[in-house]
Amino acid sequence: MINVAIDGPVGAGKSSVARECAKRLGIIYVDTGALYRSCALFCVRNNVDISPENEQAVSELLNSKLDLSIKLEDGTQHVIVNGEDVSDEIRTLEISKAASAVSALPSVRAFLLGMQRDIASKNSVIMDGRDIGTVILPNADIKIFITARPEIRAKRRYDELAAKGSDVTLGEVLVEVNRRDFNDMNRKEAPLKQAPDAILLDTSDLDFEQTVSGVTDLIRDLGKI
Ligand code: DC
Repeated sequence: MINVAIDGPVGAGKSSVARECAKRLGIIYVDTGALYRSCALFCVRNNVDISPENEQAVSELLNSKLDLSIKLEDGTQHVIVNGEDVSDEIRTLEISKAASAVSALPSVRAFLLGMQRDIASKNSVIMDGRDIGTVILPNADIKIFITARPEIRAKRRYDELAAKGSDVTLGEVLVEVNRRDFNDMNRKEAPLKQAPDAILLDTSDLDFEQTVSGVTDLIRDLGKI
């Protein structure tokens, strides 16, 4: 069993790197951002305002009506909300904003904590998010904090959205990336930060293959896999 924690800001390349490393190592990749996005989508669909003042209503809605689970298909994670696969619906800019807001609510983080720990206790995983090394898996076998300069992260996120046909501009994405980083780093509850024992990896000047082989080597060097 091995638990790998990967954290970092928006667009640092965490998810694509973690997914590819997990594939090469034959272990499970868990995208925890998708869980926050699913909670956000559920609130939006139920017209429940996501704000600290309305936390109780959000918490009641999630605890009483949301059945959230993860399904793996060919190594790809799908998120299932009350029986419906919402993996595509959670990838819009609207849900990105809502996810950042919902993730600041302590009751939402508590709601998702057990689920994340449960998966990691039963499987060898690479789990990516914002607080995996600091809160969810403090005893992970290895922690990696992946980052890159904001303009580079915005461009990567923009390319992803554009490839899906979105008509947002690079400028809009940069504003959104900076705003979300600010929220994620400055919230009271489990803010985005590098764990003291995490390895820092700046991917600004690395291509995808260099990053993936670097991370895969770090994990293999542990000798557990
Ligand atoms: O990684 P992502 O962009 O899909 O994450 C969406 C939002 O969820 C992000 O703004 C911060 C939040 N999040 C979090 O607070 N903790 C995590 N472990 C993962 C995501």
